[in-house]
Amino acid sequence: FYATRGDRPLLGKHVVVTSGPTHEPIDPVRYIANRSSGQQGHAIAAALAGLGARVTLVSGPVTLADPAGVETRHVETARQMAAAVDAALPADIVVCAAAVADWRVAGEADQKIKKDGSGQVPALAFVENPDILATVSKPGARRPPLVVGFAAETEKVVDHARAKLARKGCDWIIANDVGSGPDGGVMGAADNAIHIVTAGGVESWPRLAKTEVATRLARRIAETVKERNI
Ligand code: CTP
Ligand code: CA
Repeated sequence: FYATRGDRPLLGKHVVVTSGPTHEPIDPVRYIANRSSGQQGHAIAAALAGLGARVTLVSGPVTLADPAGVETRHVETARQMAAAVDAALPADIVVCAAAVADWRVAGEADQKIKKDGSGQVPALAFVENPDILATVSKPGARRPPLVVGFAAETEKVVDHARAKLARKGCDWIIANDVGSGPDGGVMGAADNAIHIVTAGGVESWPRLAKTEVATRLARRIAETVKERNI
């Protein structure tokens, strides 16, 4: 069988997707992390592959299986994720769904930090991690024509997302209302209520299963690729 453009509108397109949390080491046995499960990013990678795209998924540590038909690169830290994304470029589309740690621990210890018996606690200092979305969005020859970021917000969701769109320089921000829903959270949950924030306006979707959000988002991306002749 030969797939037609109709079934596979993203044939010939390369998409890079980031997903999951990052782990930032404190010492060889301890790390800083967050509650991201990778469900949304992995589902988006799978949905885009389902529309015919060649997908490179750069995944932080998750318990999910690698999606079928997707080339998955496994990383731990934000710096490794940034390097893996850079190595995967060029791309027609980049979707940054990962919950990248904003800060890493300054002066990661080479050996396990030990209690010294005095009751003294260690002090952690942090340094800012590279911003992968902002880096990918920078104008230039290698800038992908469509760059999509996410925003996790607990209040003034759309206002914060608009500010983030401008600050990062990406084309769309998918804003997650992480404060809403019956369980009071999106991270780790199976469903998600999103707003697509672009220069043209805001489109709000009802609360849907993350797999359904992924399917619709992949279709929305395919429409844009067609419209903008990406
Ligand atoms: N992001 C990234 N690299 C980082 C931090 C964030 O690529 N070091 C991306 C995320 O993948 C997401 C978007 O930037 O697509 C927004 O992430 P978010 O945490 O909501 O925004 P921040 O700019 O980090 O601001 P804050 O956490 O303070 O709200
Ligand atoms: Ca952040």
